[in-house]
Amino acid sequence: MDSFIIQGGRPLEGEIEISGSKNAVLPILAATLLTKEPCVIRRVPNLSDVHFMGKILQSLGASFTYEQGVVTVQARRLKARGDYDLIRKMRGSICILGPLLARSGKASVSMPGGCVIGTRPIDLHLKGLRALGAAITIKEGYVHAKADALLGSEVFLGGRVGPTVLGTANIMMAATLCEGVTVIESAACEPEITDLAQFLVAMGAKIQGAGSPRMVITGVKQLHGAEHEVIPDRIEAATYAMAAAATGGEVTLHHMRCDHLAAVLDKLKEAGVRLEARGSSLKILAGGTIKAVDVSTQPYTGYPTDAQAQLMALMLKAEGLSIITERIFESRFMHANELARLGADIAIEGPSAIIRGGLPLSGAEVMASDLRASAALVIAGLMCPGRTQVNRIYHLDRGYESMDKKLRGLGARVKRTQGR
Ligand code: EPZ
Repeated sequence: MDSFIIQGGRPLEGEIEISGSKNAVLPILAATLLTKEPCVIRRVPNLSDVHFMGKILQSLGASFTYEQGVVTVQARRLKARGDYDLIRKMRGSICILGPLLARSGKASVSMPGGCVIGTRPIDLHLKGLRALGAAITIKEGYVHAKADALLGSEVFLGGRVGPTVLGTANIMMAATLCEGVTVIESAACEPEITDLAQFLVAMGAKIQGAGSPRMVITGVKQLHGAEHEVIPDRIEAATYAMAAAATGGEVTLHHMRCDHLAAVLDKLKEAGVRLEARGSSLKILAGGTIKAVDVSTQPYTGYPTDAQAQLMALMLKAEGLSIITERIFESRFMHANELARLGADIAIEGPSAIIRGGLPLSGAEVMASDLRASAALVIAGLMCPGRTQVNRIYHLDRGYESMDKKLRGLGARVKRTQGR
């Protein structure tokens, strides 16, 4: 398994380009199952999750090619079942359930199971599909869905901590081919949902209210092929902004959407980071001291849970106590123990982490556990003087395109080693 070797303690300087959004492109790739015509998706990041989704689509009978960020995919004919082994291995593949059911009247997808950040239930996905008339059974770890005809309906999709992003995507995609009108109350408002809606509308779907808690989808008989450019990855942008701030550097991020990151940029400003937004570029100037901040993760437009670990790494540099409360997932502080190996003092009190910043840090060997926790360890390694080795960086390859190359482009001393 590969590792990153980081010689930290230097400010990041320079400019990089933000890649297309992982969390936008995965449901968009699933949406291509809704038509037998070819689709072309541009600015697709070169990530292991993207290639995995491509393999899943191919296992369902679709053709899939990836050439320099452009995906061409066509699900001319669909097999009844995909390669379970593949589907079981990637949680995000749950979003093929809705389109498969809508296109072929039946779908079998492995229960995603939990992961290190939480149990990851799909009860709201199933509630929504049942509301559209699907018969759902769960057998031997798989969800089997069947529906002779899907009928539009009104469904409340809010869960115990608010909306579900991929649950909204699943119901939205199924509803595009339903008979009649579907209303989703408490729909997720994330930019990735709005991007998916734009792609579906380009395919001929009728959707109003995407990006708002109430979405109305009027079913159509069939959808046609379409072309689409994926939105920039707001979490990748947040990650590099935190890295720039944590190393006291001066970095410009190009091809990003500042309007997708209002909560994160607001917190960075509160922490004393100077930001200059100009069109689709953002300059981070972090010469001064970093102030401690408090934050609770929330559904969009609140502070994103996917940028929580990265902020914790930044707060290691802040003077005083900061409090980060994780309201979306039940165990998303795996990075705290690993950060402690670098000298961090972080106390976990229920859903909150209390970070005592400003302590001396030094490089160490640490273990990545999930995608965003790994990013936090890289940020901390860039900040700490000395050598930090981040192991199991396959987690990073799932969601960050060429991270070591981009960091070297900012003057970081980081190299990837082939692991044992
Ligand atoms: C998406 O996951 C993202 N993944 C996650 O990003 C992100 O953290 C999450 O949304 C929240 O923003 C992709 O888009 C591929 P949810 P998703 O359903 O849709 C509960 C990353 O690092 N819930 O919005 O699976 C659930 O337990 C990843 O890029 C139910 O209770 O998340 C959680 O507490 C990690 N029942 C909350 O809702 C359900 O049926 C939000 O989950 C579904 C979810």
